[in-house]
Amino acid sequence: MSTPTPSSPAPAETTAVTAPGSTAATGPAAAGSDAVELTADPTWWRQAVVYQIYPRSFADGSGDGIGDLRGIISRIPYLRRLGVDAVWLSPFYPSALADGGYDVDDYRDVDPRIGTLEEFDEMSRALHEAGIRLIVDIVPNHSSNRHAWFREALAAGPGSPERERYIFRDGLGEHGELPPADWTSAFGGPAWTQVEDGQWYLHTFAREQPDFNWDHPEVREDFLTTLRFWSDRGVDGFRVDVAQCLAKHLAEDLPSSAELAEMPQDGTHPLVDRDEVHEIYAEWRRVFEEYTPPRTAVAEAWVSSPERRAKYASPRGLGQAFNFDLLTADFEADAFRRIVTDNLRQSATTGSSSTWVLSNHDVVRHATRYGLPPLQGREVKQGAEWIIAGGPEEGIDRELGLRRARAATLFELALPGSAYLYQGEELGLHEVAEIPDEQRQDPAFWRTTAEDRSFDGLGRDGTRVPLPWTREGSSFGFGTDGAHLPQPAWFADVSVEAEDGDPASTLTLYREALRLRRTLQGAEELTWDEEHSTGDVLALVRPGGWTSITNFGDAPVPLPAGEVLLSSAPLEEGPDGAPLLPGATTAWLRR
Ligand code: NOJ
Repeated sequence: MSTPTPSSPAPAETTAVTAPGSTAATGPAAAGSDAVELTADPTWWRQAVVYQIYPRSFADGSGDGIGDLRGIISRIPYLRRLGVDAVWLSPFYPSALADGGYDVDDYRDVDPRIGTLEEFDEMSRALHEAGIRLIVDIVPNHSSNRHAWFREALAAGPGSPERERYIFRDGLGEHGELPPADWTSAFGGPAWTQVEDGQWYLHTFAREQPDFNWDHPEVREDFLTTLRFWSDRGVDGFRVDVAQCLAKHLAEDLPSSAELAEMPQDGTHPLVDRDEVHEIYAEWRRVFEEYTPPRTAVAEAWVSSPERRAKYASPRGLGQAFNFDLLTADFEADAFRRIVTDNLRQSATTGSSSTWVLSNHDVVRHATRYGLPPLQGREVKQGAEWIIAGGPEEGIDRELGLRRARAATLFELALPGSAYLYQGEELGLHEVAEIPDEQRQDPAFWRTTAEDRSFDGLGRDGTRVPLPWTREGSSFGFGTDGAHLPQPAWFADVSVEAEDGDPASTLTLYREALRLRRTLQGAEELTWDEEHSTGDVLALVRPGGWTSITNFGDAPVPLPAGEVLLSSAPLEEGPDGAPLLPGATTAWLRR
């Protein structure tokens, strides 16, 4: 990387966007040192970098092709070296895997294929000793159909108290042979399934995921028990699955799906984002506050507006909510600026911190999304069309996609608030498109027909392929005996082994960015540098002069004056020797 000479002595025009209640980050100790004492700081989460682990695909310690807790324990040194503040574990509970573990049989146990409660405790201790906090996924909208309560409900029959914990209804038609309503589940196909005695139950997702009845006091009480169960085992926080769906209002006559679609999602919709859902989270908050530091939570809440989302982030509720706006945005300066400004303003209204996400287990990886044609406002899931077409190489510019992904990540990591990273993005992984149909696992693939796959594509397996740790060996070092989803040959070159120590690798970039972020992080404030934010360029300044400048376009632009700390691609030099920021590149400067 070349060192720049000052190119622009003029002071920048600025616009301040500040989130109140913000403090400087108090992260864990630097990677590499010995056991770390985690502080009782109740604000640790505000600007944390959280690394999402999809347990079945991270590392396999038992050699059965499925990732597990032993595997995670063995990779704690890797996580520490990466420099993350916390890990979030997607579900590891006993499950038939009808929906990748989001169909939970028992909320207070570990799937035997993944480990034991003793191993969970060992992992929790080891993470904490490494200065890494632990967040677990909690899935309160639905259980699995193998959950003890659902089996009891089936056995007890219509009209029984056991059925009251779920949402059972008689069917329509002369003999109840028609579903109570024509609703479609989120994975395609009907949202009501008939059981042997003729009644129907509601499932917002797969039919193996019956929705709980959150009006039932036992359901409420049982989740409080679960929150305490994991909090007592040292869990620091919870990621709350489909947080917007728990409260429902099902009148005697159910609306049709066409009527539902017309109803405003303003707190009164029968199924989504009802105002009274926040009463549930106020109860959860009281449990969180029983602990020191208080347990944290982040809501996965797909709601109609930033204002509605802010309610989930209330300090009287879950405290933080995912902002998925960057997941659906094109790599484009105006869009990124609008999203950042809106979300900082929104978190300022709740006192929460902002959250930033570029990839997770539900979406096409961002290195791939950014190599595909832009959406330009079209409402399809990014990358879905390419995957449906079989992932043709002529449809994607992989090099550009990765280059943009690296730039977007540096942009993200310079923002105030917390960043949620998804396993494998630190290797610059692309989506795996080449999964044979018969090996796909995602219900979003199996429950939809080719015609209605426009939203979810071929499902989410391509982002959940087990990680490559080594260039060679069974499953590229994921385990000793294969991987539960097929890994492509190109994984060798993007394995941890291949990238470790390579100064140009994406892994090195992430490690360096996280190390610098820890030293640069200050109050949750951001100022747009208007002088340099023109056209395709966005420049932002954080307290202490930490500047991040991103060129979203193709042509190189002059770099502002300052000490270059890091850049997502090598800088260029202008004819006068002054440094230039090439297209699709972010640089961090100290000014
Ligand atoms: C959101 C989770 O992220 C997704 O993976 C899951 O399929 C649904 N919720 C249903 O639990």
